[in-house]
Amino acid sequence: MSARPAGSTGAKRTILDFGAMKERREKIVVLTAYDYTFARLLDDAGADMLLVGDSLGTVICGHDTTLTVTVDMMAYHVQAVARGRKRAFLVADMPFLSYQVSPEDALRNAGRLLQAGAEAVKVEGATAPILDAVRRLVGADIPVMGHLGLTPQSVHRMGGYKVQGRDPGQASQLLRDARLLEEAGVFSLVLEGLPAELAREISAAVSVPTIGIGAGVDCDGQVLVCYDLLGLFGDLSPRFVKRYAELGVATRDATAAFIDDVRAGRFPDPEHSYK
Ligand code: KIV
Repeated sequence: MSARPAGSTGAKRTILDFGAMKERREKIVVLTAYDYTFARLLDDAGADMLLVGDSLGTVICGHDTTLTVTVDMMAYHVQAVARGRKRAFLVADMPFLSYQVSPEDALRNAGRLLQAGAEAVKVEGATAPILDAVRRLVGADIPVMGHLGLTPQSVHRMGGYKVQGRDPGQASQLLRDARLLEEAGVFSLVLEGLPAELAREISAAVSVPTIGIGAGVDCDGQVLVCYDLLGLFGDLSPRFVKRYAELGVATRDATAAFIDDVRAGRFPDPEHSYK
């Protein structure tokens, strides 16, 4: 019998936990969630944080990029996840164009996600307008998570979903960006698609916890898209994804068995029929 994960019955996670976890070198486990049922399962398994990622544009809606995601879409999924999770801290992605236009716009949009049930929001990048937006949100008591490296909303600037920070100039810029985001007040920082050594250096340079995805083992925590972890999403298969189950195959097989039973007149059998 497998042991129940340590965290699953513990106290509600709050923003106060994550800095302390970094100090204790206790890894922070973050998973994406997009609906009520998955939120319940991932929360019950012991995830520290659930992220309603704008990856919902690709894994849920089937778009090629996350650029099509709107605040309305995010708010709808945040509401569903908020109803399903009990213990995990809930972060919502700010979608493309919801925080870049002006700090006031960012505040209004982040406010909508908090009203939908999020406890924090995440923004990508560290250019001047984004740092202004972070400061405005933090000034309004909205916790903000940063996101550096392979930032999917910048797919067209990056020329594709490519590992970032391999050349020394870009690596130094990413280190500077991490410090700027820390100064602007982020409580945590996602590092995506970076060489492991650079992610280790950034994690040591900032006091806020770093959460890695495709950024090696030395980040203070790890995040994965739950559909990748469970083997449900096969369109992209980056090197860093480890599939812990093959639920895509299981789903197809179970559905095919149901179809066979219905066509052969085996379902519903007497046990599944009302008397
Ligand atoms: O949108 C998302 O799911 C994300 C995580 C992969 C970090 O930003």
